[in-house]
Amino acid sequence: MLNIPLMSNNIVKEDIQCLIDFLSKSDRFTNGPVVRQFEQKWSEWLGVRHSLFVNSGSSANFMTMAGIAELYGRGEIIIPAITWSSDISSVIMAGHIPVFADVNLHNFAMSEEELLSKITEQTKAVFISHILGLNALTDKIIQTCKERNILLVEDVCESHGTKFKNEKAGSIGQISNFSFYYAHHMSTIEGGMICTNDEDFYQQMRMYRSHGMLRESSDEGYKQKIYREYPDLNPEFIFMVPGFNMRSTELNAVIGLNQLKRLDDNIRKRRENFELFCSLLDKKTYVTEFDLDGQSNYAFIVLLRENNTKIFERIIHMLTTEQVEFRRGTAGGGNQLRQPYIRKRFPEERPQNYVNAEKIHFFGLYIGNYPDLEKEKIVKLCELLNAI
Ligand SMILES: Cc1ncc(COP(=O)(O)O)c(C=O)c1O
Repeated sequence: MLNIPLMSNNIVKEDIQCLIDFLSKSDRFTNGPVVRQFEQKWSEWLGVRHSLFVNSGSSANFMTMAGIAELYGRGEIIIPAITWSSDISSVIMAGHIPVFADVNLHNFAMSEEELLSKITEQTKAVFISHILGLNALTDKIIQTCKERNILLVEDVCESHGTKFKNEKAGSIGQISNFSFYYAHHMSTIEGGMICTNDEDFYQQMRMYRSHGMLRESSDEGYKQKIYREYPDLNPEFIFMVPGFNMRSTELNAVIGLNQLKRLDDNIRKRRENFELFCSLLDKKTYVTEFDLDGQSNYAFIVLLRENNTKIFERIIHMLTTEQVEFRRGTAGGGNQLRQPYIRKRFPEERPQNYVNAEKIHFFGLYIGNYPDLEKEKIVKLCELLNAI
């Protein structure tokens, strides 16, 4: 039995020891100096001015879309058919209109052609997803967003360390979101980060994270101005925006700081594992020509070249027998347009029109890749997949 879980050993003994040391000497446990330190180190690692630690990647999405509505107004947000559900539900809940685009098979990200064809005068933002560690950006997407004054938002939740032309994904768009959920490139058990170089957006996010409270802003000039405008209010309790409580804790930040030390090494191992996997897989049966430039693989991608249900079922059977964990349809379970929350709201949308998302939905899956995964297991896994 091969026995490959989706993730193994992502919170290690050393992380736990750091937690024990912290707990034994500290008396502040929620959002405080360690969170600030983690945010600072993360900004340095990513190459951005500001980072804000929150309690999940989805929280980062919800806050981002709410913040865009507040600062820039509501509008159309172009979004891929293959992404995580909170990327789309955050758009809907903030009162924007999701405009869906099909994806490429070489990086599972929005097709440049489709994305560009969906831009209108109402387009507020393009919300790309870097899927499974494959870069989603192109020069044309970046250039067009800039020229047309459209916000470029990057979901890097499952792609920490992915690069576009030597720049880290998440440092290119105006806003980017990361997840530190257990299975990701690094983990704080649960957690997320919102990153930006935009001072106004950062200040908004600081308030959104804590109930919309003015006192969370670090812009003293702005705070003084508001105090003068609202003399009837207690300065400690001025609620500027309809906010959330998406704060994380010092404990999660302690784990994050320690995990960050291993991140680059883990990315290198994941990348090597994926390159080995792609090189061994039978190119006649499987799609292997992924855009590997700057990849930082999250999980191995199995995608049938031919849409053949019988072969796909044989793969599922083999993986189940070998106790290899997998997820069908890759990120978010495949074509989001098939999901009830979309069907109910957008009955005019035909999931079948998103041809590549449909292929990934029915003939694609992912298998765990993690730094400790033994090379012999990757070789054996490919032998079994090639023998199907
Ligand atoms: C692409 C993508 N976006 C967003 C999320 C949401 O992150 P979280 O699970 O931390 O809420 C995930 C989750 O794994 C994801 O893969």
